[in-house]
Amino acid sequence: MAAAVVVLPLLAALLVPFSGLQPAAAGGNAAAATVVVKAATAIARTDDNFVCATLDWWPSDKCNYGMCPWYNSSIINLDLDNPILHNAVKAFNSLRIRLGGSLQDQVSYKVGSHFGHCRSFRRDDGGLFGFTDGCLHMNRWDELNVFFGKTNTTVTFGLNALRGRSKAAGGNDTLYAGDWDGRNARDLMRYTVGKGYRVESWELGNELSGSGVAARVAAAQYGRDVARLKRMMLRFSGAGAVDGVTHHIYNLGSGKDSDLIKKMQDPSYLDQAKKTFRDMATTVRDAGPWSSPWVGEAGGAYNSGGKDVSDRYVDSFWYLDQLGMSAAYGTKVYCRQALVGGNYCLLNTTTFVPNPDYYGALLWHRLMGPVALKAATAGGGGAPYLRSYAHCSREQPGLTVLLINLSNSTAFDVSVSGGPLGAAPCGGRREEYHLSPHGGDIQSQCKRFDLCIMFFAITYESVDAVCD
Ligand SMILES: *[C@@H]1O[C@H](CO)[C@@H](O)[C@H](O)[C@H]1NC(C)=O
Ligand SMILES: *[C@@H]1O[C@H](CO)[C@@H](O)[C@H](O)[C@H]1NC(C)=O
Ligand SMILES: *[C@@H]1O[C@H](CO)[C@@H](O)[C@H](O)[C@H]1NC(C)=O
Ligand SMILES: *[C@@H]1O[C@H](CO)[C@@H](O)[C@H](O)[C@H]1NC(C)=O
Ligand SMILES: *[C@@H]1O[C@H](CO)[C@@H](O)[C@H](O)[C@H]1NC(C)=O
Ligand SMILES: *[C@@H]1O[C@H](CO)[C@@H](O)[C@H](O)[C@H]1NC(C)=O
Repeated sequence: MAAAVVVLPLLAALLVPFSGLQPAAAGGNAAAATVVVKAATAIARTDDNFVCATLDWWPSDKCNYGMCPWYNSSIINLDLDNPILHNAVKAFNSLRIRLGGSLQDQVSYKVGSHFGHCRSFRRDDGGLFGFTDGCLHMNRWDELNVFFGKTNTTVTFGLNALRGRSKAAGGNDTLYAGDWDGRNARDLMRYTVGKGYRVESWELGNELSGSGVAARVAAAQYGRDVARLKRMMLRFSGAGAVDGVTHHIYNLGSGKDSDLIKKMQDPSYLDQAKKTFRDMATTVRDAGPWSSPWVGEAGGAYNSGGKDVSDRYVDSFWYLDQLGMSAAYGTKVYCRQALVGGNYCLLNTTTFVPNPDYYGALLWHRLMGPVALKAATAGGGGAPYLRSYAHCSREQPGLTVLLINLSNSTAFDVSVSGGPLGAAPCGGRREEYHLSPHGGDIQSQCKRFDLCIMFFAITYESVDAVCD
């Protein structure tokens, strides 16, 4: 049953100013739906490099459910000379790339005199996440930074936060005790700054808070270690260091869940993530208002994503909705797991040819500016199936509305209204970007640019205090 997807919902994005109701373009049995955009006030502001993708450490023998979908996509062996990879990253100018993942806490950096030993990751059933420690050689770090320089990447680097700690004695608790030994990280930072490489942000640890995954560090200990990292950063990077609190999102469940496709198109399921973003915003506001929430890693489905799902058109229902929702709740950065590797890759892991979500990410980055506006869909029985997000446009006047059509049966006659503030002058010019699945198959994969039109967007000129 699950495989027999015959209907073709369209994913749509609209970019519109609030110039009053627009005549709808669609015909047939359309439900009227009005998208109300309150353009007079900003509800949130993202970082300029909100769209982010991750590179992971997983070696090619990282496997889940009998599949090993990482190939040579590790930070250690990714082919940085590949021209498709190069162009795909460069197209963003600037894409934020976060380097990290489960194995980051067991990586040593072969620099200075505190790296201990330096060896490659090997499978080890007794090791954390099934692997031994690994190592980053400085010649590889140089190659990575040459790539980042050429593509003008904004780099976020996840540091090895388990260094110097040991597993607490007794029981099968995942607690790791002791101070973080930051000397290896300090030597990496010193090397990096000395070479003139630009790492925009340093992140400490991967999923070690709360109950952790394979390992955890107690909150008070973590706090002391973060303060230590901050002092180190001020020494090497100067003032203005980024303060973000990262959390990871895999809200669709396991990569082998046969309901993944259904969940991605279910508005009430997608809405459940609002609670996560709201809770995160509240926690940060109450406990550290000088910082801001980041999604440091999000692949939708965990354990490498869903085969033939997470790298297909249908995943965009989840992904674009997450970008819109997280930004509206004050998230500054949203890192998609993964740029390359796993089943949730933005680029095919062996050929680097873009998958559908790559284009969603690029369109968001080019069209949606940092200022988020309140947008809501009203009227029509299909309202929950038409999701809307609005931002001031990026580097041009007016605003951009992203519309996501989750309905498998209803066509929407969409009009956009500014609500009580709808009287702003408007030239009526707009651009639309439509994204629809190739051949109507929501599990299709983009093979060429011209087959990848999936999104429907409209821009208008508009005069407004917030956006202009
Ligand atoms: C991975 O890289 C190794 C070493 O360069 C190469 O021999 C192998 O063919 C590559 N594997 C894939 C799937 O590209
Ligand atoms: C590189 O990216 C930054 C944003 O991170 C941007 O301000 C800068 O203009 C870009 N540099 C070039 C040469 O395009
Ligand atoms: C090990 O962990 C399990 C699950 O958390 C728990 O039920 C069990 O009591 C623990 N055993 C020991 C010896 O701590
Ligand atoms: C990547 O591209 C190759 C060549 O087109 C294809 O055989 C493979 O199935 C693609 N990988 C995935 C995960 O789609
Ligand atoms: C269309 O969507 C509705 C509501 O989500 C669902 O109950 C129905 O099974 C879907 N129809 C098909 C053919 O997928
Ligand atoms: C939404 O999807 C339905 C079903 O595929 C389609 O009939 C309708 O035209 C779409 N509406 C828009 C605005 O794209």
